[in-house]
Amino acid sequence: MEVAKWLIGQGVGKIFLASRSGAASEDLKRELEQIEGSEVSVEAVAIDIANDSEVKGLMQQINEGPLPLKGIFHGAMVLDDGFLMDMDRERFSKVMKPKILGALNLYQYSDTEALDYFVSFSSISTFVGNKGQANYIAANAFLDRFSDYLRSVDVNGITVNWGVLGESGAVARDGALSDHLSREGLKGMTNASALAALEVAMRSGKSQVGAFEIDWDEWSVANADIAQSALFSNLVATHVNHESEEIDVVALAMAEAIASLPEDERDERIQALLCIGLSKILKLSEKRIDRRQSLDNLGIDSLMLIELAIAIQSEFGVRVTTMDLLKVANIVELGHLVTSKLMETLGRAA
Ligand SMILES: NC(=O)c1ccc[n+]([C@@H]2O[C@H](COP(=O)([O-])OP(=O)(O)OC[C@H]3O[C@@H](n4cnc5c(N)ncnc54)[C@H](OP(=O)(O)O)[C@@H]3O)[C@@H](O)[C@H]2O)c1
Repeated sequence: MEVAKWLIGQGVGKIFLASRSGAASEDLKRELEQIEGSEVSVEAVAIDIANDSEVKGLMQQINEGPLPLKGIFHGAMVLDDGFLMDMDRERFSKVMKPKILGALNLYQYSDTEALDYFVSFSSISTFVGNKGQANYIAANAFLDRFSDYLRSVDVNGITVNWGVLGESGAVARDGALSDHLSREGLKGMTNASALAALEVAMRSGKSQVGAFEIDWDEWSVANADIAQSALFSNLVATHVNHESEEIDVVALAMAEAIASLPEDERDERIQALLCIGLSKILKLSEKRIDRRQSLDNLGIDSLMLIELAIAIQSEFGVRVTTMDLLKVANIVELGHLVTSKLMETLGRAA
């Protein structure tokens, strides 16, 4: 809708907003009412972009109208996040269809010779990855290359790899997700800056443009393994070295504090700290956390596992991967894992 409003400001005469729900949502109805009466006609149509006959039908409807189709913005998206080992064909297909079949249908059934542009919305996650989004990243990776294909057949294809859109869209609607991404360094863009970036991308003459706000310091701490890969090491080298020194200092201080406790109190202290961290993630009093329950039964989903790994790193200074978290039976075992990492740190410092 924000893109539609921006297009209206650019003097576009007619806009079709295609989604499966059409004008069914109350929010959209209100937005459309506000536009009503202006010189621009905005029509919400209910179609599944992955369904070729429905897209063909829409294109016929457009062709029968007075104005030719001059531009396409392909932003359809469905999410179904989860660890790769929990993914199956159906979950990949659900996320890939609207992006990939949507792009192919729009290309196949539109009069591409008349198009001034064909813009596809992809994500920064195809550059930097994002845990739990293999299906989404694969779908977007298709769009990243699709614009190259479009250009090879003389269509002005542009893929925009968005970072976090802070004021509208799926992330903005989910406060917990935007907080999580912000802690990982991905900051929300305002609509104004996103639309300014869109204009730059469309004028750039390039097939792919990234538009994002990222704090590389925070990103490199949350993604230390990827940050040290050849792709990013030059970009974030200073930050990674600086942060990893800092983490060791935290780990050493924590290890010394734990080692100074009587042996029979150490487990209790570590587990209590883990429960405090978990209670913030689960938004639950730490007293209600059963330390012998599996993390799964405590209601920790894949995003929360990532948050827990980040919380452990910041509280204890040691790195625990989400894979480690999947392997531990409960908080008691997690406490043992953290203790052993702290003791390793103490050993290295000695
Ligand atoms: N929001 C962000 O921070 C962000 C970040 C990076 C990239 N992006 C990209 O930007 C685009 C827009 O994201 P958003 O956050 O605005 O998403 P959104 O608010 O969830 O909107 C996605 C739209 O896609 C429609 N849709 C889904 N499946 C469809 C289908 N099969 N046929 C037709 N329409 C379909 C949905 O409507 P129905 O459910 O009614 O069909 C909805 O209107 C996406 O391509 C996304 O990958 C967004």
